[in-house]
Amino acid sequence: MPDDPIAVVLAAGQGTRMRSKTPKVLHPICGRPMVLWAVAAARAAGAAKVVVVGGPDRALEPILPPDVELAVQEEPRGTGHAVKAAAAHFADAGDTTVLVLNGDVPLVTAEALHTLVEAHHGAAATVTTMRLADPAGYGRVIRAREAMDTIDRIVETKAPGDATPEELAVDEVNAGIYAFAAEPLAGALQRIRADNAQGEEYLPDVLEFLRPVRAHLVDDPTLTLGINDRVDLAEVTRLAQARIHRHHQRAGVTIVDPASTRIDAGVELGRDTVVEPFTSLLGATRAGEDCRLGPNSVVVDARIEDGVGVGPFAYLRPGTVLRNGSKAGTFVEIKNSDIGEGTKVPHLSYIGDADVGPRTNLGAATITANYDGRAKHRTTVGSNVRTSVDTTLVAPVTVGDDAYTAAGSVITEDVPPGALGIARERQTNIANYAEKRARE
Ligand code: UD1
Ligand code: CA
Repeated sequence: MPDDPIAVVLAAGQGTRMRSKTPKVLHPICGRPMVLWAVAAARAAGAAKVVVVGGPDRALEPILPPDVELAVQEEPRGTGHAVKAAAAHFADAGDTTVLVLNGDVPLVTAEALHTLVEAHHGAAATVTTMRLADPAGYGRVIRAREAMDTIDRIVETKAPGDATPEELAVDEVNAGIYAFAAEPLAGALQRIRADNAQGEEYLPDVLEFLRPVRAHLVDDPTLTLGINDRVDLAEVTRLAQARIHRHHQRAGVTIVDPASTRIDAGVELGRDTVVEPFTSLLGATRAGEDCRLGPNSVVVDARIEDGVGVGPFAYLRPGTVLRNGSKAGTFVEIKNSDIGEGTKVPHLSYIGDADVGPRTNLGAATITANYDGRAKHRTTVGSNVRTSVDTTLVAPVTVGDDAYTAAGSVITEDVPPGALGIARERQTNIANYAEKRARE
């Protein structure tokens, strides 16, 4: 961009309509806090600086990327008041473009911000607008009569008394994404008043003191939907999820049934990987090429290499590493464990805090007893190991390379390399038992 803009993201509102103990902008959308979607768009659009306006509790501080600044709005006295809290970052910046983004409009893209900056060129303020079949809850855009691409004012509608019935009938609304010239904005912010139905300083009221003011109408309103309540949250999440799906599909991933598949924003997937229905890939999960994930599986913060099979009905928890060609099969739960190349955990197992070497097979219902009620302990299993069905590995314990365990063993001592560990009661058969019973 010609002059890299300064971006201000508004995130200090209470979000009362969410009826939540968590601040609205911290509610996750596809695994990423709402406010970070706008932050990501601003950074991707090449903003020289991103300033997030948060509340005095500094709840946002831990989640903001290090190069993003936090400005504190001491009391939530309106969107105009919030921008003032960041004014030190642009008040002396001449006519540098200041992008102001509502922190509850997460679907805005870098591209949409570029287009806004281009449309803004030479104006004092440019407001992104959209037409909605149901404009309820948004500020209505009243265009100036004399020049139709300019805005006269924006009328708020949240509290009864702000708008007339004629104004309420307008279907063009303020999307909450603006471009301003820096110094004129700083000046105008000093002039707005809280003399409205909500008693707040409304950001759109600066428009009265700025000329010219342009409208930038976007034709895809799904880019600029705002989130005020949990109905909006679900709708925007659906759109965000579809965007994530398309990104992976275009990069060569098959998603068999997108409607039943959750993939978080931070997930990476390799080419020719297939995601089967009813599967959730969450957090910072990464999977390589040619994997089959699911159906009905949940993967959280796991690292999966190439050619790996997961599921059906697998649960991979944080810290799981599945190396090339390995498998976590049906009703298998793995956490904080490294599963070696070509190693199979095919059925009904729980593997926690374990290091398992390559080409090993953990028989059905191999379970690590990794917790003794006080502390977690690690289990080490070598390469080419065969545990038989129903093996319990009581950690800390080591099973050496090429070793075996017998079915139904509770392994509490290390099994040396190449040995067979048998740890169970010998079977006793009582002859003629049925006959004896019948006689008694
Ligand atoms: C706002 C606009 C409305 C527009 C809509 C688009 C105003 C007065 N109205 O309404 O014209 O159609 O967005 O989505 O701006 N915030 C603060 N501090 C505050 C108040 C709000 O930081 O004191 C933040 C919120 O966290 C939120 C954003 O500003 O991210 C918007 O606030 P919100 O109360 O949701 O405004 P709307 O009523 O949606
Ligand atoms: Ca809003």
